[in-house]
Amino acid sequence: MNVLIIGGGIIALTAARELKKRGAERVTIVEKGVLGREASFAAAGMLAPNAESNGTGEFHQLCSASNRLFPALAGELLAETGVNIELDLTGTLFVGFTDEDEAEIEERYAIQKKAGVNVVPLSGKDVLALEKNVSGDVRKGLLYPDDGQVENRKLVAALRRYAELNDVVIRENTFIDRLVIEDGVVIGAASGNDVFCADRVIMATGAWAELIPNNGQWGAFGPRPIRGQMIGFAAGDFSFSHVIYSPRGYIVPRADRHVIAGATMEDVGFRAEVTPNGIAAVRKAAEEIAPVLADATMNESWAGLRPFVSDGLPVIGEFPGHKNAFIATGHFRNGILLSPITGRILADLATTGKTEIDITAFSPERFSAAAAGQS
Ligand code: GLY
Repeated sequence: MNVLIIGGGIIALTAARELKKRGAERVTIVEKGVLGREASFAAAGMLAPNAESNGTGEFHQLCSASNRLFPALAGELLAETGVNIELDLTGTLFVGFTDEDEAEIEERYAIQKKAGVNVVPLSGKDVLALEKNVSGDVRKGLLYPDDGQVENRKLVAALRRYAELNDVVIRENTFIDRLVIEDGVVIGAASGNDVFCADRVIMATGAWAELIPNNGQWGAFGPRPIRGQMIGFAAGDFSFSHVIYSPRGYIVPRADRHVIAGATMEDVGFRAEVTPNGIAAVRKAAEEIAPVLADATMNESWAGLRPFVSDGLPVIGEFPGHKNAFIATGHFRNGILLSPITGRILADLATTGKTEIDITAFSPERFSAAAAGQS
């Protein structure tokens, strides 16, 4: 089988690996820039199905199932590529400092406990016993022992290495401008006069909907970019053991003890750039969690564009009206977390036309069904 993947982020890379493992003869990734340098690079690498959501429903189930794939993935990638993706399963903390935060924590706990989420309620004192550098103003917290993090840039590097070692054809700096369709069947895609023929085409283009031709349906589920600005602090005279969230931001301690902090949520189009206001807001939220960071050296700042679809859920499945074409986008705040399971689903769909993973809630068809219901 010959599979073409449009887009070169974390979803494309995990799909390419899954396809190679299933014996696809030819897998080609065509990326408009450099592999993994957009949202996959900008992300914080949090694996937080519980801290990032209220922990119920199909979306939470998909996130949790993907989270459970990481220990095996980390071990396999180390053996296959020699790259350690720094999987850290210490757990995630959610902490609160105000009356509103306390109310939010209580509500989250009630909902998640009822839904069977592994969540531990913490007093302020409990939080400080786990993390001595959290602000003494902390009032309450939640510990999510099943959440964690991965070094997303190393994950990208490992997957790229896997692709190179396994003869995945990589074409960077190549902007696909159309699908090639014959009698309603997608038989490839093209960049100018350069045509890539394929038995199956996967579109994993993140926020860049314009890389996929508009067939009239695209308007319904086209993603739009939501910018996240981030900062990095050099390792200093402080340490943290967990990823720590508040309702206003988060900090992520890496294995080498540097700390990253995020993130803004801004609907400003394709402007992956930092601004003084954005950086100040991220710093403020980080220092509220851990005042010790006020004296830390900020040595990096960057921004990425999350792909957001109108109902906030990913879009994964057959591309409506296009035989042999599949789509995965809309991963929004959870692209790294959802990459292993999305890669599997895409490889299932491309090789067999179906998947045992329940993706009904994420089907692109949900928008056509909603539109039909309204008319
Ligand atoms: N998952 C963290 C973020 O999107 O900022």
